[in-house]
Amino acid sequence: MQGIFISMEGPDGSGKSTQIELLKAYLEKKGYDEIIITREPGGTVISEAIREIILNKDYSEMSYMTEALLYASARAQLVSQVIKPALEAGKAVISDRFVDSSAVYQGMARGLGVEETYNINSYAIQGIMPQLTIHMDLPAKVGISRKKEQAELDRMELETLEFHEKVAEGYRELARRSPERIKSIDATQDIQTIHEIIVKYVEEILKK
Ligand code: TYD
Repeated sequence: MQGIFISMEGPDGSGKSTQIELLKAYLEKKGYDEIIITREPGGTVISEAIREIILNKDYSEMSYMTEALLYASARAQLVSQVIKPALEAGKAVISDRFVDSSAVYQGMARGLGVEETYNINSYAIQGIMPQLTIHMDLPAKVGISRKKEQAELDRMELETLEFHEKVAEGYRELARRSPERIKSIDATQDIQTIHEIIVKYVEEILKK
């Protein structure tokens, strides 16, 4: 069985993790017996340690370039240690965020530039890109108010509403640029409806 790589993207609080669990169950039924679920920044001991630095709300002085490079470092470790070996072994990998998060959050919302951000990351991802990226499209306000209900906000979530609006719009722009790979779904719909739409997109790539 050939490896498949799917990433889940969207603003904070867009319901990615719920959909990842449902997709995992669906792929298991399809016969992918080993499905690797991972998240960014994180997914390895080293990447989780980097995550602690990035999201620590005491580090308000962190420069945007440092932030971008730390996300890329966490990603480099995740790709080498988990994603690349899994794909080579024919497994299915579903990642909660991948390089498009950097393109949107650092490239667009922070203003470092999309091309520049992909360039910084090219070293980290070693040419590995998802075959399918699901974009959970949600208004910034809805996402952030969901997050506030769940837990204490981290350094990124504490950003202004204007920042989160740039993120929400940034994802739409990125999806317009790569319509073949990035599929946008209205994330205000109910969980089961969203899952069924995701399954249709996944079936298309499994046929290929
Ligand atoms: P996380 O708690 O995983 O957010 P969520 O549950 O919403 O996915 O925190 C990740 C945060 O880091 C989130 O605010 C998005 C941000 N981020 C970037 O800014 N750049 C990146 O490359 C990645 C992977 C995440």
